[in-house]
Amino acid sequence: MTFAIETRRLCRAFGDITAVDGLNLAVPEGSVFGFLGPNGAGKTTTIRMLLGLIAPQSGEILLNGCNLTRNRSGALSGVGAIVESPALYPNLTGREILTLAARLSGRPVKQGIEALERVSLVDAMDRKVSGYSLGMRQRLALARAMMGSPRLLILDEPTNGLDPAGIADMRALICSLPSTLGATVFLSSHLLSEIEQMATHCALLDRGRLVFQDRLEKLSSAAPSVLLIETDRPEALVQRFLDQNVLAEREADQVRIHLSLSREERQALVNALIEDGIGVSGLREQKPTLESLFLKLTGEGRGLPQ
Ligand SMILES: Nc1ncnc2c1ncn2[C@@H]1O[C@H](COP(=O)(O)OP(=O)(O)OP(=O)(O)O)[C@@H](O)[C@H]1O
Ligand SMILES: [Mg+2]
Repeated sequence: MTFAIETRRLCRAFGDITAVDGLNLAVPEGSVFGFLGPNGAGKTTTIRMLLGLIAPQSGEILLNGCNLTRNRSGALSGVGAIVESPALYPNLTGREILTLAARLSGRPVKQGIEALERVSLVDAMDRKVSGYSLGMRQRLALARAMMGSPRLLILDEPTNGLDPAGIADMRALICSLPSTLGATVFLSSHLLSEIEQMATHCALLDRGRLVFQDRLEKLSSAAPSVLLIETDRPEALVQRFLDQNVLAEREADQVRIHLSLSREERQALVNALIEDGIGVSGLREQKPTLESLFLKLTGEGRGLPQ
C-alpha cells in the first residue's frame, strides 16, 4: 500500500506541554482519513507540522513519499490545505482572491476559476467576501486549497462553525474529492459523527498519542453499539439476557444491552421476546460516542465534547 502521509515517531512540545507524542500516522492514498480527537489533543499541531509551518522536535514526515525535512518544496508541491480559520481578504471578491492565489503560486488564472466552479461559487465570485456566509467562506478556502488539483488535501476542522446546510455542502464536497480530483483527504474533527459520515479511515488522538488507527468500520467494532429496549417487564428481560451471558442493565422501563444486531436480528429478538410474554414497545440503537470509544480504547473516561 502507498501512503499519502506517513509520520514516524513525530514529537512536538510547547514548553512543558507535549502536544504530539511519538505519532506514527499512515494515511493510505485515495482515502478520506479522519483525524479525530478532543480539544487540545494535538490535531492542529500535527497539521501545522505536516505543512511545514512549525518544525517537529523529532521524527519524520513523508508526504506522497517525499521527506519534508530533506525536500520541503518537493513534499509540499502536491498539497493543498485549510488550517483553522483561514485569513481571507474581506474587501476582495472571490474571483480576485483566487486570481491572486493563482498568480502567487505561479499557476494559470483559469485554475482559480475552475476551483471556484468545483465548490459552486461561480455565481457569487464577483461579490466581496465580506458579504459571504461562513459556509461560502469555507468553500472559498477549499477552492483555494484545491487549486492546481493537489494529490493531497489537508483540512483542519473544515466544518467547524458551519450550520447544518453548510456542513452538508462541505461534507458532500469532501466525499467527492477522491473521485473528482483523485486526491487523498486528511481532515481533522472533534466530532465522531462527522468523521463517520465522511471517512474511509480514521485515527484517534488522545493527548498527543494515537489510540486507534485503521479503517473506519474497525472503529465501530471497537465499541459495539448499545441497544435500548423499552419493555413492560424490565426485570424479566434483564434476567433473560443475563441467563444468556449478555450484559444487560435496567434503566427505568428500559433495558440497555451491549450488542450490535442487524435489522433482521433485531426483528428476530423482538419476536422471540413477545413469544416469551415480554412486551416490547420500542427498540433503538444508541451509537457509540467519542467518549465511549476513548473509554474502550484507553480504559479511562474523559469529559469530552460530543
Ligand atoms: N503555539 C502554542 N504555544 C503553546 N501551546 C500550544 C501552542 N499550540 C498548541 N499548544 C498546546 O498544545 C496542545 C495541543 O493543541 P492543538 O491546537 O494541537 O490541539 P487540537 O487537537 O487542534 O485542539 P482543538 O480541537 O481545540 O483545535 C494544547 O494543550 C495546546 O494548548
Ligand atoms: Mg485544532
